[in-house]
Amino acid sequence: MDIKQLLSKMTLEQKLAQMSQFNAICLMPDSQGGVTGPARSLDLTESELAAVGSTLNFIGAEEMIKIQDMHLAQDPLKIPLLFMQDVVHGYRTIYPIPLAMGATFDPDLMQECASMAAKESAVAGVNVTFGPMVDLCRDARWGRNMESTGEDPYLNCLMSAAQVKGFQGDMTGKYDIAACVKHFAAYGGAEAGRDYNTVDVSERNLRDYYFPAYKAAVDAGVEMVMTSFNLINGVPSSGNKWLVDGVLRKEWGFDKIVISDYNAFREMKVHGYCESDKDCAYRAIEGGSDIEMMSPCYLKHIPALIEEGKVSMEQIDKAVLRILELKNKMGLFENPYRSASVEEQNKFFLCDEHRDICRKAAEKAAVLLKNDGVLPLCDKTKSIAVIGPFANVGMIGFWSCAGKEEEATTVLQGIKKLVPNAKVEYAEGCDKDDVATPCDEMIAKAVEVAKNASVAVLCLGEHRTMAGEGNSRSCIGISEAQKTLIKKVKEVCDKVVVVLFNGRPLVITDFMDDANAILTMWQPGTEGGSACANLLFGKTNFEGRLPMSFPYTVGQCPIYYNNMRTGRPLKRDFKTSGYTSRYMDAPNAPLFPFGYGLSYTNFEISEPQISATSLKRGGAIKVSATVKNTGKEDGVALVQMYINDCVASLVRPVKEMKGFEKVSLRAGEEKTVEFTITEDMLIFWSANGKFETENGDFAVFVGLDASENRSVKFTLCD
Ligand code: BGC
Repeated sequence: MDIKQLLSKMTLEQKLAQMSQFNAICLMPDSQGGVTGPARSLDLTESELAAVGSTLNFIGAEEMIKIQDMHLAQDPLKIPLLFMQDVVHGYRTIYPIPLAMGATFDPDLMQECASMAAKESAVAGVNVTFGPMVDLCRDARWGRNMESTGEDPYLNCLMSAAQVKGFQGDMTGKYDIAACVKHFAAYGGAEAGRDYNTVDVSERNLRDYYFPAYKAAVDAGVEMVMTSFNLINGVPSSGNKWLVDGVLRKEWGFDKIVISDYNAFREMKVHGYCESDKDCAYRAIEGGSDIEMMSPCYLKHIPALIEEGKVSMEQIDKAVLRILELKNKMGLFENPYRSASVEEQNKFFLCDEHRDICRKAAEKAAVLLKNDGVLPLCDKTKSIAVIGPFANVGMIGFWSCAGKEEEATTVLQGIKKLVPNAKVEYAEGCDKDDVATPCDEMIAKAVEVAKNASVAVLCLGEHRTMAGEGNSRSCIGISEAQKTLIKKVKEVCDKVVVVLFNGRPLVITDFMDDANAILTMWQPGTEGGSACANLLFGKTNFEGRLPMSFPYTVGQCPIYYNNMRTGRPLKRDFKTSGYTSRYMDAPNAPLFPFGYGLSYTNFEISEPQISATSLKRGGAIKVSATVKNTGKEDGVALVQMYINDCVASLVRPVKEMKGFEKVSLRAGEEKTVEFTITEDMLIFWSANGKFETENGDFAVFVGLDASENRSVKFTLCD
């Protein structure tokens, strides 16, 4: 399609309609839709609605084809709609939430999962997914941690690029879909972990920590960027010219589509940044955004802004060309249904191959937090009590698209299938909701079941509705009812295993001692139950490591490993260290640090060795350490390399991850792991307001989690 020629035929109204996106329900070809349907409050005219450029929130191939047909029949220019959807961790077959995928430290697996999701989405008619979500997360209270891969910029960059590659392929394949990285920028920096709240961060914090994962997606060729709801230093991202036009477009060279978040242009009024919808339209187009999601500021007010000379037709044409370009690239002009196919949906949805990927991912994502030896369970265990509000629920997590709880395996099903000869008894124990008052009757039933069992597996934590958009929490423990349940069960059964389901780090300090073993499955998706059973019985070993610190108490939030030093660091016990940076009632360190996780074997790591004590700019040196499996089982160690810039023009974090390697070791085996250190790893946003390195001393740590403090030094010199 010659899109420039097409553009020359378009009226201003048609162009602005291309730049507008409304929910599928507004476009439905039956009585629900049209200007008098759900779109009523948007005050659209029939011709505006007929020429709309894209839509979101539709269900499956059949609906997509129906909407596309109706649209093409109405649109005088017959420009196909682009169909977008939040495919965050699977379409119908649901893989673990992105936070869990962070715990795998396995970008290849992340890419495989994204590619599987793309395939199911493509056949369901999705052209663009609103993912990956790569917001840096430092505050466990924020509900949307579950969508991100965690607190570390290095890991997030790898996972960001992996998802883009997985979704998009090379954009020519039948099942490739376009990706949209979000939420640009720093949405995860919401004050107090409260969703949609203000973000106020320094430029160096943005550049060094928050920006890199978005940039990684851009560098990987992402087709679209979504701006965030929040303010950044007083200016909403939706109308932030410095952010979008400056950093994204001019500095990073991104010349593809920028879309708003849901109704976010209009919310600039609520923020107190714009005084009218017209002002919102002006700020957004000036900012550099192309598509407005779910509000009609562009449609209604750009004509007047053009007349007044505040906005040029050139700006509009640029935006429209970007949109038409993507439609053209995806072949929509030739085939407006692209890969939508009911037949292929039936073939791919929940197929064995996809379920297998999900199981593998859920196994690799699970993190063992405590184990006094009760795990793994023996195949010959005679009687097992499976208890808890999440023991017989498919834990697919928030943003699970077309996924269904009832299609996911539960822990109860997984255990029953794996050990068919054991006596497995189930009790719900307490309610799913975060109820404060335990229900005595339910608990009594659970105690009865536990009494007769040789081990009790308690499935606790958060239901999927407790983490996700809008679901921030000020208390991040488990409910009082769940805590009582653990205590009561422990009174009658001496082997208690707590399986947590969670979309964020939880505070587990207050029940740590009551459980013999604790593990997190996160929100593991379609094969969560079978993966959990395999792990509990040692059919597979734990290899997941925490992608976010687990706080000791919620009062420590935000907490992350790559923090700055203070002038008065805590030296002794927190209770006795007056006039130091401390809490009087809690340690400074988290309960479990970033990178932490146990397995069914033990690993030891040697002091690091360095190949040279000076690194010349442009050169390379090596750091190595030997990791040994000192236990009795085979296992996978995650060897992590961190660097600290000892003195710099702007204070640098105590350490930053710069590399990791997963190492498979048979029992008793040892291997030496080597990392190459190059100058680009030492770059940061300096006091000169640019990315550069500074000569001087650096410390390198090689360890098994972020608390490693043995280091070697080297000097960067000319
Ligand atoms: C969310 C986005 C999402 C959009 C469309 C918004 O509320 O913040 O992440 O892509 O809705 O569903």
